[in-house]
Amino acid sequence: MKIVILETPEHVAQYGAELISKQLASKPASVLGLATGSTPVALYNELIARCRTSEVSFSQATTFNLDEYLGLDAQHPQSYRYFMDKHLFNQVNIDPANTYVPNGTSADPIAECEAYELKLEKAGGVDLQLLGLGHNGHIGFNEPTSSLGSRTRIKTLTPETIKANQRFFSEGEFQPTLAITMGIGTIMESKQVVLLATGAAKSDAVVEMIEGPIAARCPASILQLHPKVTVILDRAASQGLENSCFYELTEARNQELLHHRQSRSQSR
Ligand code: F6R
Repeated sequence: MKIVILETPEHVAQYGAELISKQLASKPASVLGLATGSTPVALYNELIARCRTSEVSFSQATTFNLDEYLGLDAQHPQSYRYFMDKHLFNQVNIDPANTYVPNGTSADPIAECEAYELKLEKAGGVDLQLLGLGHNGHIGFNEPTSSLGSRTRIKTLTPETIKANQRFFSEGEFQPTLAITMGIGTIMESKQVVLLATGAAKSDAVVEMIEGPIAARCPASILQLHPKVTVILDRAASQGLENSCFYELTEARNQELLHHRQSRSQSR
């Protein structure tokens, strides 16, 4: 795991946007795995700004979102399809036909999950998967004790996740307790993973993910087994890490090496 600790959530968003921009520059027809929630919004804003100045292009990209609430249609303001259209797709040059979010109102949700896996396979798999982190260590809606080999399926949300997401729903509004989510096995097949976590409320989950044992009680801990993961944290989210000095030293060395390589190739 490459751990990057930055001062603020804005720095986290910029660093993450840079990784996605690089991915799209090196492979314009990339398949991106995307997340919703509060954390990636600033990163999406950064990508929108870069798209407006033609620094990045989504014209050949395909996207697959991690999850969708069961029971909310695409027009529902709390659906993840609505969120993605609003916060990214409608503001960049992506072909809407190349944006996939599980259908939360499918007449046959089990078949929908299987079909989602097939579509992903047909697209060649995810090149770069963007993830947020739940307070309980979930990735996608893979709640603690989810099978670490799971595929796209219907999951029951924990009371903790329902409470954490209550802020998006108005009082008395129907809030789903089930969701379709890519599985942990599905996520682990991505060629590259970029996980963002910001704020002190995520610090316990961050410690379990990075320095704890690989265990289904913290689904994100499985990422320790992935060969290409970048975890980008702000200072507050990193506060519980035992080895944060080592991670910062390593990242500083990586940046030095990168600058060295860049200045050598420019002077040639
Ligand atoms: C949403 C998703 C979730 C969130 C996580 C963190 O698509 O996959 O795992 O990333 O719940 O949410 P925020 O960013 O709102 O704290």
